[in-house]
Amino acid sequence: MKHIFQEGNNEKTLLLLHGTGGTEQDLLPLAEQIDSEANILSVRGNIEENGMPRFFKRLREGVFDEEDLIFRTNELHDFLNQAAKDYGFDRSQVIAIGYSNGANIAGSLLFHFESALQGAILHHPMVPRREIELPHLKGINVFIAAGKQDPICSPEESEELQALLSQAGAETTLHWESGGHQLTIEEVKTAANWYQGIF
Ligand code: MLT
Repeated sequence: MKHIFQEGNNEKTLLLLHGTGGTEQDLLPLAEQIDSEANILSVRGNIEENGMPRFFKRLREGVFDEEDLIFRTNELHDFLNQAAKDYGFDRSQVIAIGYSNGANIAGSLLFHFESALQGAILHHPMVPRREIELPHLKGINVFIAAGKQDPICSPEESEELQALLSQAGAETTLHWESGGHQLTIEEVKTAANWYQGIF
């Protein structure tokens, strides 16, 4: 997968996953605010929708192509395993930071693999899949930032995601913004405080 790797000065690796139409450059400033000492692995989604990079196909807005989501989740998981070998970072200390479509594939990693991630900061995620059994997520910390007026993801869906992850054993924090789907400076600051308190 097309990506940027920047070696840091501690054991953590921040996995950056952009939103629809974004690139591997987009979330680099967030990583700087969250943990400026960590390694950075920032990946570009392999799908293009009308020229816009994404991490998996969708049938229409908010309706995922489930078969492709599963395929792409496995692909990203394999890529992470290989990247850890190639770059020599600790595979057990990868924390995802994703926005929108990127948050959704990060959520899908959590829904499908017990130890794909040590933690995740999910900006405006949705429930990636329903009616599946989640792996055991004890010890995994997840921060969710959601918008009360988000036209793509309702408050109920954000609460459902938190409940599903918590039921699987993850430690979850749900942070509310008053606005919509956009990524705000305020939620990034809150995510940074959360991260620094845990990792
Ligand atoms: C998705 O397709 O992942 C969600 O609708 C969010 C987005 O617009 O990317």
